[in-house]
Amino acid sequence: KLKVGVLVSGSGSNLQALIDSCAAPDHPAEIVTVISNRPGVKALERARNAGIEAVTIDHKTFADRTGFDAEMQRALDAAGVEFVCLAGFMRLLTTEFVEHWSGRMINIHPSLLPAFKGLNVQQRAIDAGARFSGCTVHFVTPEMDVGPIIQQAAVPILQGDSAESLAARILEQEHRIYPGSLRWIAEGRVKIEGERVLLDGATAPSASLL
Ligand code: GAR
Repeated sequence: KLKVGVLVSGSGSNLQALIDSCAAPDHPAEIVTVISNRPGVKALERARNAGIEAVTIDHKTFADRTGFDAEMQRALDAAGVEFVCLAGFMRLLTTEFVEHWSGRMINIHPSLLPAFKGLNVQQRAIDAGARFSGCTVHFVTPEMDVGPIIQQAAVPILQGDSAESLAARILEQEHRIYPGSLRWIAEGRVKIEGERVLLDGATAPSASLL
């Protein structure tokens, strides 16, 4: 099985979706460690409840990003991690760390990239008058929220939506497409071609509109 490490910072609902999906006996990936840069978050509890190693590496105890990322690298290597999933991980990563995991690290972002990179994206989509938003699973490259896109799902933005109501609608789709993307990757069906991802075969839908 592909040994996966998940990096988290908060609630970990996407982590939970990955844990639940990987629990299927025939699943080709296995989560071997969960690392949080924030102590005491719910994501760590979710990992422990699933019998998965839960590690806290508090970024505040490091002088700079290089030291923090080096410690994460050490922890990932110690757990035998081959592939990294960012699941609500809210720290920028150094170019060195990202390049080490090039083609072997994915992220989920709550917008239809390349629109609305960065933070506070649900409110920004509402404020822009967008009629749809959604979520994107993509490979991580040194520039934030830019790498090759694996899968997206769109949701409508409704009259009267708040950032919270839109975030909840998007999260439902995140919980569907993130495990789906990881499974395709672990099955060897995802290839990076330049700046794009090619999905193998007729069975992998590349988009879904709800
Ligand atoms: C999710 O909406 C995820 O897409 C977003 O944070 C939330 C984490 O929720 N990630 C980012 O904004 C990354 N820049 P979770 O902890 O419940 O999975």
